Amino acid sequence: MAEKKFNVAVAGATGAVGNQMIACLEERNFPIKSLKLLASSRSAGRQLRFKGDSIAVEEMTDNSFKGVDIALFSAGGGTSLKFAPMAAKSGCVVVDNSSAWRMDPEVPLIVPEVNPHAIAQYKTKGIIANPNCSTIQMVVALNPIHKKCGIKRIVVSTYQAVSGTGKKAIDELLNQTRAMMNFLSVEKNVYPHRIAFNCLPHIDVFLENGYTKEEMKMVHETRKIMEDNSIGVTATTVRVPVFFGHSESINIETREYISAADVRKLLETAPGVKVVDNVSEKAYPMPIDAAGQDLTLVGRIRQDESVANGINMWIAADNIRKGAATNAVQIAEILAQKYL
Ligand code: A2P
Repeated sequence: MAEKKFNVAVAGATGAVGNQMIACLEERNFPIKSLKLLASSRSAGRQLRFKGDSIAVEEMTDNSFKGVDIALFSAGGGTSLKFAPMAAKSGCVVVDNSSAWRMDPEVPLIVPEVNPHAIAQYKTKGIIANPNCSTIQMVVALNPIHKKCGIKRIVVSTYQAVSGTGKKAIDELLNQTRAMMNFLSVEKNVYPHRIAFNCLPHIDVFLENGYTKEEMKMVHETRKIMEDNSIGVTATTVRVPVFFGHSESINIETREYISAADVRKLLETAPGVKVVDNVSEKAYPMPIDAAGQDLTLVGRIRQDESVANGINMWIAADNIRKGAATNAVQIAEILAQKYL
């Protein structure tokens, strides 16, 4: 039987994540009948490459989704709130990378290595949410441990690349670094402080409880994806002057004891994980190695000697790929194979 092919749209095709979505569809040979590339009116007419062809970007409008089977959205929360229901109404399934729909109880929040079964819930609203980049890589690394011995509490600190903020932020780090190296004055447009040669403990907006929205996304999304509201999560999210690849320092407390050696063994066969943990060879996860590939690198696995059942680890993953585009395309693959 001939393979079924799909009409696919990428909304936000000119952005950092949208661009990578197009690349992932090509790399993974997604069964595409037609590909529509959508962005704002500013980009209408721009040509983007897909499998050797040039495709003209179109302005996203209410009518953009007629005849589309799957739409991958990465055009910001406001755009998703407005266009995703319209797209779903015209019969397409939306995989949305923004935070707009993630905590909607009728919208599944999916990491294919963790809760692929929950995709089935897409039928209610026609929307599937792609989680926050820092949450995705954390649950890929932690879910096997949670399944085996139950995670009681997670303390995480992130070291997040500027690409997570989008193209403008990549340019900002580049321009500021260039200016600093040339003793020129530094311009700030994206972040409230200089990001070059600095760290900002501030990602997304501050909330009333003193945490940032990014930090609370890690709390709520982790529980939703791991399907366990009893897990305690506390996060500090930090922007660092790295272009691609988020890193995280993670401390967990488990219900049952597990040794660092057993965590290492467990993660060696876990889906989506690559253990990089050989300190005698100076081998540990780093963003320069995480960038450009799809696995979550896990290392520095060691016992937390300050509690009975504690483990520390350091992880890194490509925030634009596994943290966004690859995860969305993996979701689309399951949809295509099992549901459409
Ligand atoms: P455009 O390039 O035309 O502004 P990033 O996160 O890297 O900044 O990318 C954001 C993406 O979302 C871009 O493709 C951008 O298109 C798109 N976008 C932003 N606002 C809208 C909008 N109102 N309608 C459609 N696409 C939008």
